[in-house]
Amino acid sequence: MKVYLKQIVERLSRYLSKIKTFYTNSVRKMYLAGLVVFSVLFVGCCGSEPLRFPTWFKFGAASSAYQVEGAWNVSDKGESIWDYLVHTRPEIVAGGGNGDVACDSYHLWRRDIQMCEELGLDTYRFSISWSRLLPSGYPNIISEDGKNYYNNLIDGLLEKGIEPVVTVHHFDLPQSLQDLGGWANPLIVDWFTDYAQVVFSLFGDRVTYWVTINEPFILCEGVFPLFLAPYYDDPNIGRYLCNKNVLVAHAKAYRMYDDLFRSKYNGKLSLSTLFFWFEPATPEDEEITDLMFEFWEGRYAHPIFSKEGGWPVKLEKNLADNARMEGYSHPRLPPFTSEEIDLVRGTYDYFALQHFTSRLVRRLRPGERNPMWPLIGSSEMGIIMESHPSWVSVNDWFAIWPQGFHKQLNWLNTTYDLKEIFITENGIPLGPDVDDTLRVEYHRSYLEQILQALHEGVPITGYTAWTLMDNFEWVSGYTVQFGLYSVNFTDPMRTRTPRTSAKYYANVTRTRML
Ligand code: NOJ
Repeated sequence: MKVYLKQIVERLSRYLSKIKTFYTNSVRKMYLAGLVVFSVLFVGCCGSEPLRFPTWFKFGAASSAYQVEGAWNVSDKGESIWDYLVHTRPEIVAGGGNGDVACDSYHLWRRDIQMCEELGLDTYRFSISWSRLLPSGYPNIISEDGKNYYNNLIDGLLEKGIEPVVTVHHFDLPQSLQDLGGWANPLIVDWFTDYAQVVFSLFGDRVTYWVTINEPFILCEGVFPLFLAPYYDDPNIGRYLCNKNVLVAHAKAYRMYDDLFRSKYNGKLSLSTLFFWFEPATPEDEEITDLMFEFWEGRYAHPIFSKEGGWPVKLEKNLADNARMEGYSHPRLPPFTSEEIDLVRGTYDYFALQHFTSRLVRRLRPGERNPMWPLIGSSEMGIIMESHPSWVSVNDWFAIWPQGFHKQLNWLNTTYDLKEIFITENGIPLGPDVDDTLRVEYHRSYLEQILQALHEGVPITGYTAWTLMDNFEWVSGYTVQFGLYSVNFTDPMRTRTPRTSAKYYANVTRTRML
């Protein structure tokens, strides 16, 4: 009891000091009101058991269409860039797998819903396959079977009291649009908005949380330096054209939702942003680390979430200088017009955060090459990303450092004016073995940081484990897995089996405690 009282007193004094800080700032008054309500609710529902998640906090799991659906050529489905890539360049996928059948969720969606139920989930995040719903890529043909599949999934989830969180686009562009330049062509803004309009009109009556575009950073930066379809070797130009087009496409879709659907459905839209936490390797690396935040995170978040909008100023100048020195006549990162800045700024109702790991950042030494993701960051920024010796390293890009997640959450909360942060992905890549006690520890320790951040007033409303079940992990094929359930990919029935982590997570969702 004493401990409990002490914690309440500590919590109140933390809030009192926040109140003091914000008191003189009238712009912050709305936030203050929210914070007070939040504190009262938090103490009300969780005060007696400090390690308990509030009842309104949503636990979920996620997947994406190409990674789980299979049925790549069933009915009138069109070809996506992944169908095309894995059939024309099978050698680029580790182990030679592809998503032709994957988890066969197109046929086994009832079992997927059952797993969500077993896990006690509040939400299930999945994506819609553009080429399944619109076989030509355009709204001239809407597939009846595609429509039925997603209607069944949404209705089936709702029947079990599970809220669908729907991603409109998750890396699987129709090949017909790729043939015209895909995300590097500014016309993609209209193609995407037309597609999104079909999606909202078909499913908007039952879906509140929307993610327009999944991880634009990886969509653009992963495509051009060779680790996602369409697998282009164009690190200098394509990624920057895509960067701007993806933001404008998201913004146009958001504005279209405002005009046509918001008054009827009152949904919440955002795009999901992948954030690594970057920690400077030494105090001398602080400046380059800040620039790295702008390069990776700011380039996708600043135009939407900052008050002023547009590209991060220092970074835009830095990239323009690079382009000039390299002999280009225009900046490689296309400038925004002032109309575009206004169009894009503020197009969010919540922040959809995808966080997996942290990296130490330092400058490359003379003659040194970045062994990992050589083109992300190192060519432009001259940096290297590493693990800290004290972090548990899982592979060459991934280490467990939950404190980095905590820092990330606080950074977001202080950098942008956010009313709601929803974690739309968090998970750990391990081998396909069924035993995954390390995954249990990963989720436990990252959830613990959320609890602490909630105590500090960070407005986090949900957590989504990546991923519901093992699936096609892009160019890593089936060699690396993130699933709470394992899937037997040699069994035609694609039998799903709960791992230790699934049992752990089901206990968390049931007890709301770690
Ligand atoms: C985020 C992506 O959205 C998802 O498709 C991918 O499988 C995970 N990262 C793990 O790499």
